[in-house]
Amino acid sequence: MARNKPKVHPVIFSMRFSTLNENKLIFVYKYRHKSIGINQKLIMSTTILAIESSCDDTSAAILRDGVLLSNTIASQKVHERYGGVVPELASRSHQQNIIPVVDDALKQANISVDEIDAIGFTRGPGLLGSLLVGSSFAKAFALAKNCKLIEVNHLHGHVLANFIVTPETVGKEQAKFPFLCLLVSGGHSQIIVVKSYTDMEIIGTTIDDAAGEAFDKCAKVLGLPYPGGPHIDRHAKLGDPKAFQFNKPQIPDLDYSFSGLKTSILYFLQKEVQKNPNFITENIDDICASAQSTIIEILLKKLILAAKQTGIKDIVIGGGVAANSGLREAIVATGEKYHWRTFLPELRYTTDNAAMIGLAAYHKYLAGQFATQDLAPRARYSLQEYFAK
Ligand code: KG4
Ligand code: ZN
Repeated sequence: MARNKPKVHPVIFSMRFSTLNENKLIFVYKYRHKSIGINQKLIMSTTILAIESSCDDTSAAILRDGVLLSNTIASQKVHERYGGVVPELASRSHQQNIIPVVDDALKQANISVDEIDAIGFTRGPGLLGSLLVGSSFAKAFALAKNCKLIEVNHLHGHVLANFIVTPETVGKEQAKFPFLCLLVSGGHSQIIVVKSYTDMEIIGTTIDDAAGEAFDKCAKVLGLPYPGGPHIDRHAKLGDPKAFQFNKPQIPDLDYSFSGLKTSILYFLQKEVQKNPNFITENIDDICASAQSTIIEILLKKLILAAKQTGIKDIVIGGGVAANSGLREAIVATGEKYHWRTFLPELRYTTDNAAMIGLAAYHKYLAGQFATQDLAPRARYSLQEYFAK
């Protein structure tokens, strides 16, 4: 007997028909999963394979009925020595990694390729060569296996990362629609009103650099490796956030600007290093703590304003910068002050991963939103455009 395999005892509470999937009638019913003691919707069990390849992580995930079974990521170390992602090298690595990563995800989930109902892939935004690898794989897979193809906007995935559950975490408390998402990654800084799983509105965005870029550029001037965010985070834990003052932008409404911060830090360092050539090494923790707290202050100022303007009190964060320990603490503390309910994604789902793409694909599957074979990847792809369709 497979003792570790959870036994599903279907108990039909309600039954209705849905017209998903090319007007085929599908039973929708609820069942009680005895081993985890929850009620859940089951739509004839939908298994999704998801692919993420927008930048320098090749990732594949398997989800069954929206529950994550496996999530495999191959991170490309090749870029470290160049101080940033080299697009050509990224595409080549994706090409090498994609089959082993998918194989691994299938194995870990104990699923065969024939069980896949749909393949979701990141269509954009991202590096075109990288996106081409994932989207070509997904299209070929959908053709070969005669399964549904679902395009996902990378940012849609980052927002939904907050909802990722595994069989062990099904039923955990989640944000209620509409909620605000502070989406902060290497390419984006946005405040989004999330109205449903498939309807979102951007109310604030950066006019120049993204928050992740600000971390990476500050790290670069300090001589720290790429990507710089985690290194700044690590040093900041040991430093004094009030040690140095850097310029903060004066941008109207809910928009962000981060390009001035990098310049302010650069000029400050040039001046100090002239006086003391060892200034950076002697003060690295304090510089990182001060830079990080400035970025967090900028992010929170507009988030507080957005919460005031919209009256929304459920707040989530997403994207690579959501891994930042200072930001996570500040969100919780600010939430307590303003009586928000705050939700933080698990650390492993903050940076790029296919699990979040799979969850977005699952909700598009439920909404009957499928892609066609003629779809091309998009290096630039705004959420407005994506949700307008
Ligand atoms: O979401 P992501 O993996 O890729 C994009 O979609 O851009 O985000 C990557 C960004 C990088 O800029 C990286 O430095 C930043 O997230 N990041 C962090 C931390 N971990 C990753 N920034 C600050 N603190 C961290 N702990
Ligand atoms: Zn990302």
